[in-house]
Amino acid sequence: MGHGNQSSGKGVFEAVVLSNRRIGLTFYKLRLELSGAGAVAFSRFRPGQFAQLDATTAELPPADEIPEELADAAQRQILLRRPFSFTDVSKHGDKTTAELLYCVVGPATLRMTTLRPRSRVSIVGPLGSGFWLPEGKKKAFFVFGGMGTAPIQHLAKDMMEGELRSEIEIVAFAGAKTRWGLPFEKRADEMSEYLGFAIREFARYGIESRIATDDGSAGYHGLVTDCFLDWLKENKVDAKSSVIYSCGPEPMLATVAKIAKDRGIDCQVSMERRMACGTGLCQSCAVECRVQGSDQTTYKMCCRDGPVFDATEVVF
Ligand SMILES: Cc1cc2nc3c(=O)[nH]c(=O)nc-3n(C[C@H](O)[C@H](O)[C@H](O)COP(=O)(O)OP(=O)(O)OC[C@H]3O[C@@H](n4cnc5c(N)ncnc54)[C@H](O)[C@@H]3O)c2cc1C
Ligand code: FES
Repeated sequence: MGHGNQSSGKGVFEAVVLSNRRIGLTFYKLRLELSGAGAVAFSRFRPGQFAQLDATTAELPPADEIPEELADAAQRQILLRRPFSFTDVSKHGDKTTAELLYCVVGPATLRMTTLRPRSRVSIVGPLGSGFWLPEGKKKAFFVFGGMGTAPIQHLAKDMMEGELRSEIEIVAFAGAKTRWGLPFEKRADEMSEYLGFAIREFARYGIESRIATDDGSAGYHGLVTDCFLDWLKENKVDAKSSVIYSCGPEPMLATVAKIAKDRGIDCQVSMERRMACGTGLCQSCAVECRVQGSDQTTYKMCCRDGPVFDATEVVF
């Protein structure tokens, strides 16, 4: 791996924080700027790839700002970098900006909330493989939830105006436990747009979207996979020319993979695994995969061989 001095490829780079804003209840949006070799390397970042961020240099928030349920976890040392995808990566002249949407769940992400404009963070990347667009697809479905939102937002942009640009029609299905857990740019008191099923982040590209919440506090009352299934039952879909992209908790991915298999629709899943090295060395992120043409299975590394896999390959 290079060390920030390569003109392309992955490496360790220093990024400067442009902004760090709260989105919804537990999410934050962190905008980073890279210069020099980092700008070149990250300008090639594909939707679905990820970067490993070092949050050790950031401080914990004051004790009274730490949610009670994270008070114990906050004190844990963070030795390892943490993996994150991006919602958007754009080149501006000789700089590249990368936008990270993170959910505050433990010591590293708690520390990240205290990053201020002009703070510096070290990131390793781009890592892993991204989503791809199989030939002949005319319709794409995004089914995602929680931390899985970021790479799907990036994919939306790329399919509408980036490298994967094509004449494809997309319908997005976003899931959360409650309306407060939705990671979109909407204030809690401005939720009517959610109830009308238009997520601004997708509407800006002309992408139709649906929201599902487990408690029914916004959009469809139930699991996002049920919302998707209902939609498939109500609409005519040509399986051959369709593709599903999914990212989020593993039970959701397993259900999406089954829906896809039952209907003969191509499906790509971005797997969530705890990671350490992020580069295929430590074997801590193994995903059980089928060996093509046999009933045997093998282990692939989520960080190196994924995180995006063909859904038929993964043993859920
Ligand atoms: C390829 C990839 C891309 C990711 N992209 C994003 C992103 O865009 N936005 C975002 O908010 N998060 C993302 N994550 C998850 C993120 O890496 C973790 O939430 C982060 O490491 C938590 O660090 P922490 O120290 O705050 O909490 P920790 O103490 O490390 O974790 C807190 C809780 O979250 C669970 N957890 C942590 N990591 C994972 C994981 N990978 N899968 C399932 N459960 C996990 C732990 O089991 C624990 O219960 C991504 C993970 C991977 C593997
Ligand atoms: S995180 Fe070390 S092998 Fe994947």
